[in-house]
Amino acid sequence: MTEYRNHNTAFHSELLAAVPHRDNSVLDIGCGDGLLLRKLATAAASVTGIDSDHSAVARARARLADTPDAHLVEGDVLTSSELDDRRFDLITCVATLHHMPLIIALERMRELLAPGGSLRIVGLSANKTVIDRLVAGALVLPVRVASTIHRESGYPGMTTEQPRESLADIRRAAAMVLPGSRIHRRFYYRYTLDWTKPL
Ligand SMILES: C[S@@+](CC[C@H](N)C(=O)[O-])C[C@H]1O[C@@H](n2cnc3c(N)ncnc32)[C@H](O)[C@@H]1O
Repeated sequence: MTEYRNHNTAFHSELLAAVPHRDNSVLDIGCGDGLLLRKLATAAASVTGIDSDHSAVARARARLADTPDAHLVEGDVLTSSELDDRRFDLITCVATLHHMPLIIALERMRELLAPGGSLRIVGLSANKTVIDRLVAGALVLPVRVASTIHRESGYPGMTTEQPRESLADIRRAAAMVLPGSRIHRRFYYRYTLDWTKPL
């Protein structure tokens, strides 16, 4: 299956660098067609991807067919019993948090992390404040240039949604559910959230 580049894959190398150097397990929430999962599998002892979209999971299964220790789950991460007694050293979640109820999803991610494990979210937020709009406006030209240089190809076959919560909403929810988490505005109209679960 082909590789491609878009506003989400631009963050893959830093997510790959977050894989802990030990016998580790990684969960990618909203794994889509498995492109990130396949990269994570080169560094992790075992990888699991979950997505609620049947066709995305079918494409992920095909992409990871020859990858040992890769496990695909078709289902809703919030309710899937297949994950209930599993805990992960790294959880990644790219462009997917805004598809779910914010606080419930953050609580579920906290639950699925092993003590000492890391959560890395790449997310989208809604532009609600003047600052949000100014930042988004300032990014239009550089993002267009970067997208052209990198020959970005969009989101082949992905289920997409518009974000509802602003970055301020997300900061408030994260402060409550994931105290000590760090959130930064990033290029490509994204933010990143990093959190380590206390031991
Ligand atoms: C915009 S796509 C992003 C896919 C992939 N992470 C990427 O970066 O290309 C969002 C994905 O999240 C999945 N998704 C949405 N809600 C979900 C849920 N509750 N549980 C599992 N997957 C979910 C969708 O089916 C979709 O494949």
